[in-house]
Amino acid sequence: MKVLIIGSGGREHSLAWKIAQSSRLKKLYCAPGNAGIAQVAECVDVEAESIEALCNFALKEKIDLTVVGPEKPLVAGIVDRFQSLGLKTFGPTRRAATLEGSKVFAKALMRKHGIPTAEFKTFSDLFKAQGYISSLGGPCVIKADGLAGGKGSIVCKTVEDALLAADRILKDRLFGEAGGKILVQEYLEGEEVSILAFTDGSTIVPLEPCQDHKALYDGDQGPNTGGMGAYSPVPSITGELYARIEREIMVPTIHAMKKEGRPYKGILYLGLMLTAFGPKVLEFNVRFGDPETQPLLMRLKGDLLPLLLATVEEKLETVAFQWDPRTALCVVMASRGYPEAYEKGKEINGLESLKGLKDVVVFHAGTTKKQGKVLTDGGRVLGV
Ligand code: AMP
Ligand code: GLY
Repeated sequence: MKVLIIGSGGREHSLAWKIAQSSRLKKLYCAPGNAGIAQVAECVDVEAESIEALCNFALKEKIDLTVVGPEKPLVAGIVDRFQSLGLKTFGPTRRAATLEGSKVFAKALMRKHGIPTAEFKTFSDLFKAQGYISSLGGPCVIKADGLAGGKGSIVCKTVEDALLAADRILKDRLFGEAGGKILVQEYLEGEEVSILAFTDGSTIVPLEPCQDHKALYDGDQGPNTGGMGAYSPVPSITGELYARIEREIMVPTIHAMKKEGRPYKGILYLGLMLTAFGPKVLEFNVRFGDPETQPLLMRLKGDLLPLLLATVEEKLETVAFQWDPRTALCVVMASRGYPEAYEKGKEINGLESLKGLKDVVVFHAGTTKKQGKVLTDGGRVLGV
């Protein structure tokens, strides 16, 4: 099979690393990829959001399966476009990807279908939002409706913080048009977990539980990031709790999407808060998590390609796979300054010395290669 992966982060490196081990693989491409991905795939100089250029490449190279990493092209409808050309593509359609593309849509769906989540109200009018925030009198979370590169949610400890956040999103358009509407949400307390599942729209294949480290610094200090690390499994998730998550959240979400005429195929990622009142949804993602995918794929035994293909071909009930029972842990190395402004182009040394270490893989997230040197090229740089 000829496979194309779209994206350039640590998630895509781990997908490429795993797919490269498949006996069914003939050729692996990644667009645009990074210096680490280039060790296992041929990198193609096309950005993940250049949908037409990606289509042309896939047609020309007769790609058998395309795997889409990031949310932006999914929300923009890359799967619909590829499918219209007869190209097999892993990921949800544009209408299904709205589950991540619009937080207002996701919350309305949960409310309508009784899926547990934080209480909320939606506003496009700043004055009304201010009135509601003041009436809460305590902590809450202000979220921009649309995609904001993982930065669109502001956790506010006080009413003053929340009023400022609403102002910056709705009035100053801090996140551009993604902030045309905001959600004001109840603040949930508890431990956060990431639960991912393959689904072909009918069959659901849950993956092992995972937890990512959101805060920049140790001890949950500092601003939220895309994730500074992740591990799997999660000791606090018992079999009983996992069954409850499947029963109360995972299965109802897939059914709800079907009922709404938005059948869901691909990876469904549940960002959950384990509260004193049970698991509640913080957010849905319509893709593999980053960095959750790195430890998950370290633990997945056997071939990933049949799982991806069966999802696309709606045959998930026919595949079986196993997990390595050992824990996998990913620690992210980031550029100084991340998640705010940071410099790029710094040389990375020492990678060679890690080669050949048993059970250790260095996944590249933001790297590039120039004149034989590996340079930093992003906020999150490596995941070890
Ligand atoms: P989101 O953009 O919805 O994924 O939220 C980003 C992060 O903000 C989450 O990973 C949580 O750490 C935090 N967060 C989001 N919603 C809530 C909430 N209702 N209560 C407490 N923390 C939240
Ligand atoms: N690690 C969080 C995410 O992938 O959205």
